[in-house]
Amino acid sequence: MTYQLLTIERRRYGVTWIIVDNSPANAIGEELMQELEAAVDDLAADSAVRVVVVASSNPKIFLAGADLKGMVMQSGNLADEENFIAKKSARMQACFQRFASMPKPVIAAINGYALGGGCELALACDFRLMGNGKIGLTEVSLGLIPGAGGTQRLTQIVGRAKAMELIFLAKKLTAEEAVENGLIHRSVDPTNFEAEVTAFAEELAKGAVHAMGLAKQSINAVDKGLEQGLQVEAQAFADTFLTDEPSIGLAAFFQKQAANFIQE
Ligand code: COA
Repeated sequence: MTYQLLTIERRRYGVTWIIVDNSPANAIGEELMQELEAAVDDLAADSAVRVVVVASSNPKIFLAGADLKGMVMQSGNLADEENFIAKKSARMQACFQRFASMPKPVIAAINGYALGGGCELALACDFRLMGNGKIGLTEVSLGLIPGAGGTQRLTQIVGRAKAMELIFLAKKLTAEEAVENGLIHRSVDPTNFEAEVTAFAEELAKGAVHAMGLAKQSINAVDKGLEQGLQVEAQAFADTFLTDEPSIGLAAFFQKQAANFIQE
């Protein structure tokens, strides 16, 4: 697919950046969602892509959430189609779920405002590294609620009590506050943002990324309950042997060498 609102940059060690450029605020409308869906499928299927980084070309805004202007303009469709808004919400949920289930590590590189749906996309990523800006599920301040997975993922990530507080009060947190609340993994010096994200992404990319993908599948199965989760884990453990990573890792261990999982 040819992208208009995204740039896909393939960098060293299979680290691949999805850079969103949907001026003025990287709001998520239909076109951006279609491109995100296509990109996530392309990169998930591409074995040369070892780690995905989601970022923005806007120096101040990561993603400003759902397209509020589009929402207002489309409000006329409410009468036309049954459950129009619920379908829109489900569409965005499904798009972000594809990021959450991508079988490789996904990093949200948040260097600006990540509000509403922008925060929800970040919550669907495996790692959230943040420099400038503020992050939060701010929908309630507009009389809405998070509808792209935010009520579920924020609750899983920070716990029920904290999620209630952050969502009800539409809190916008700085990187330091977001670390304190357990919403992001790391606060990064904004002046060294890209270099620090790159260093972390490359550290992951040099590892056994297929094993990481299988561990992710297994971790995600925690929602299914212990019995089913253990079944998923056992199968994922077995599936590690479908790749060459165990032979590389085990051989390196016995040779007392560092494992090199990136085979040319
Ligand atoms: N959807 C559509 N357009 C949006 C938008 C959104 N979610 N967020 C911002 N914009 C538009 C603004 O209307 C403005 O357009 P204009 O130039 O035609 O007036 C433009 O983007 C720039 O936004 P502005 O508010 O002037 O920039 P800022 O730098 O002062 O603030 C934000 C940036 C992201 C903090 C602010 O725009 C904001 O709070 N946006 C809404 C975020 C939100 O509530 N998202 C939840 C959606 S459910």
